[in-house]
Amino acid sequence: TRPLKVALLGCGVVGSEVARIMTTHAGDLAARIGAPVELAGVAVRRPSKVREGVPRELVTTDAKALVSRGDVDVVVEVIGGIEPARTLITTAFEHGASVVSANKALLAEDGATLYAAAGKHGRDLYFEAAVAGAIPLIRPLRESLAGDKVNRVLGIVNGTTNFILDKMDTSGAGYSEALDEATALGYAEADPTADVEAFDAAAKAAILAGIAFHTRVRLDDVYREGMTEVTAADFASAKQMGCTIKLLAICERAADGRSVTARVHPAMIPLSHPLASVREAYNAVFVEAEAAGRLMFYGPGAGGAPTASAVLGDLVAVCRNKLAEATGPGESVYTRLPVSPMGEV
Ligand code: NDP
Ligand code: HSE
Repeated sequence: TRPLKVALLGCGVVGSEVARIMTTHAGDLAARIGAPVELAGVAVRRPSKVREGVPRELVTTDAKALVSRGDVDVVVEVIGGIEPARTLITTAFEHGASVVSANKALLAEDGATLYAAAGKHGRDLYFEAAVAGAIPLIRPLRESLAGDKVNRVLGIVNGTTNFILDKMDTSGAGYSEALDEATALGYAEADPTADVEAFDAAAKAAILAGIAFHTRVRLDDVYREGMTEVTAADFASAKQMGCTIKLLAICERAADGRSVTARVHPAMIPLSHPLASVREAYNAVFVEAEAAGRLMFYGPGAGGAPTASAVLGDLVAVCRNKLAEATGPGESVYTRLPVSPMGEV
């Protein structure tokens, strides 16, 4: 079988781990997919930077040319941001590639354009890594729970802010010191304002609500409150009440089923609640569905290797689909429910 060609867009915290695992686990990946996968090119901004395990001749600054080559089977987009990522992804579809992306900001801003381009060209768009790092959450919602009715998705979906709040709570660390540590560990976004002002968690809430409730939810539909104003005094008060403070994302279907709400804000959590014991950059998400009941998803929510695990899982799925001349699930928007930022608390 001919090798499947993969174009990697971005080789930073996540991309470098994707490249490393593709190389070190090449034999296992080939066995699981049914064909070898090879890197066709790696697009970056700074070509002279040394990137361990990435052959120099594969590195390019011309991402547009890479996705337009016509012989690429899968494009892995781990650049981040809206542009040029959006144009690169739609161009990839036009040239016959499927796409794996970790880009929650783009999916929440303009997922509809990406889904439409994938559908038009009969290609896959997979994005497990976009929400909650290594935790399988998108595929369970898109596939395993597709026959059920999800009513609520609630949890911690940002590793950086959980890391900061955890450090402030347990070791009395200052906000800036904890943020610097989270950045050094590769948890924070290129601009950490996205984390601490909760744009990142709100983007994830929009993605989760859209998939869970089969409707279209965008970043602007989500009520958003960051955690920059949480102080040591707030933690002391919370402790006196037997609580801690977490940044929560809450997506709910209204009781009458006619609308959905999505919001992200710091909240007091009783110490006895499972979310209170989510430490460092871990995430935890509860999904409540009519037949399934209450499910909990828990694990590393940020960082290079955990996120690469989710990217690689998608890569295997997309490559298998390619060999089977099939596609996985597309957008399943079959209701247009009004979205209001705040429901009943
Ligand atoms: P980084 O900033 O570490 O890496 C970004 C990479 O993209 C770099 O290699 C950079 O090149 C390259 N790049 C940026 N702009 C361009 C461009 N215009 N053309 C070509 N290459 C470009 O980000 P992360 O790896 O942390 O994140 C990547 C994506 O994954 C984002 O969407 C992020 O939200 C998402 N994500 C990140 C997680 C994490 O824990 N870090 C977890 C889950 C998702 P150069 O190296 O030359 O600067
Ligand atoms: N910056 C994000 C976080 C990366 O801290 O959760 C994972 O999506």
